[in-house]
Amino acid sequence: MDHFIYQNGRLHAEDVDLAEIARAVGTPFYVYSTATLTRHYKLFTEALSPLPHQVCFAIKSLSNIAVLKLLGDLGAGMDVVSGGEYRRALAAGVPGDRIVFSGVGKTREEMRLALTHGIRQFNVESEPELLALSAVAHAMGATAPITLRVNPDVDAKTHEKIATGKSENKFGIPIAKARAVYALAATLPGIKVVGVDVHIGSQLTDLAPFEAAFQKVAELTLQLRADGHEITRLDLGGGLGIPYTRSNEAPPLPTDYGAMVKRTLGHLNCEIEIEPGRLISGNSGLLVSEVIYVKEGEGRTFLILDAAMNDLVRPSMYGAHHDIVPLVESTGPGQDYDVVGPVCETGDTFAKGRALPALAPGDLVAFRSAGAYGAVMASEYNTRPLIPEVLVRGDQFAVIRARPSFDEILNRDSIPEWL
Ligand code: LLP
Repeated sequence: MDHFIYQNGRLHAEDVDLAEIARAVGTPFYVYSTATLTRHYKLFTEALSPLPHQVCFAIKSLSNIAVLKLLGDLGAGMDVVSGGEYRRALAAGVPGDRIVFSGVGKTREEMRLALTHGIRQFNVESEPELLALSAVAHAMGATAPITLRVNPDVDAKTHEKIATGKSENKFGIPIAKARAVYALAATLPGIKVVGVDVHIGSQLTDLAPFEAAFQKVAELTLQLRADGHEITRLDLGGGLGIPYTRSNEAPPLPTDYGAMVKRTLGHLNCEIEIEPGRLISGNSGLLVSEVIYVKEGEGRTFLILDAAMNDLVRPSMYGAHHDIVPLVESTGPGQDYDVVGPVCETGDTFAKGRALPALAPGDLVAFRSAGAYGAVMASEYNTRPLIPEVLVRGDQFAVIRARPSFDEILNRDSIPEWL
């Protein structure tokens, strides 16, 4: 459920007419609903209660500091994968002891940053990383709380580019080797083992792969305890999928997920951490764009928008589907369009043969489910400025990232004096 609904035939974000935002900030732009973000965050906390738990929002899905502050103020922790994301979490007022640091390639500098300002735990993904963290923490006279991210060799049954839990993927430590690496961790200065971490992929629409992975984590936890480690925390990663179409998709709900977590891990007396991104942010955001031209091709009609692959890359990168809807509700006859952007690549295609109401230049459309992996994956390809982000609450809206001017963009380049 989200809060983007037609009122009097005009698409609104909560109580704000999206056309009004378009007039104020220009198109294209991203818009997020505080009510939907809040609702989705709370679904997880309710689903995991009464188990002790911490929901750590995966910043990589939507990293605007205003959004992070909204979630942080509700009690969310943050899952970060870079020093930049860590800084965003701090800037949003989230205390270090609610930030977990994931990722296969943490640098020593990033480790020092997090140890200086506080960290809930590092999710360590390899033996070399463990040794580096030990050296960094020891040199600082600090102790780094860690989990090891294990790779359970489970097929997440999702798009190959976002599956992470098979042994051929670059992520985690093979679960069969985990006990040996935990034994090493226990001997290292500056390291304190606190738990186990797993994340098998993103946009999972079936609970079975999660359950298979969590069962392996449960077995490992018992073995590790028998080996003498104190395992108090299980980080289960993110990955729960969302419906991208209104019609036929019904991925499991956070309540189903929570029940399965309790069934597989509830007996272990651990604090449960999860790192959802998409389920919180995905359906909390839209990308709004204007039709520039309608072009008749050979047997097809191209709807040329002012948004492009650099603004929302998911369709060209993963062949992902995003519902596209007009801002003015239409019951008139429709037409099939190839929906494209102005970037000079055939890959700059959002949808082919998409049935839409008849549209004309100047009409506004919205891409649904664009809150996750939308703005964060945008680029300035073709020197197209990063588009603004807008946050709505009730009948109020505010620009939470402004569109840069062309001067700002051009002034980032410099010409060497010897040229
Ligand atoms: N934790 C870790 C360690 C992750 O790698 C990810 C996502 C998450 C949590 C959050 O997963 P989520 O709940 O959002 O599924 N750009 C792709 C998705 C990449 C996901 C990367 N890792 C897309 O647009 O579909």
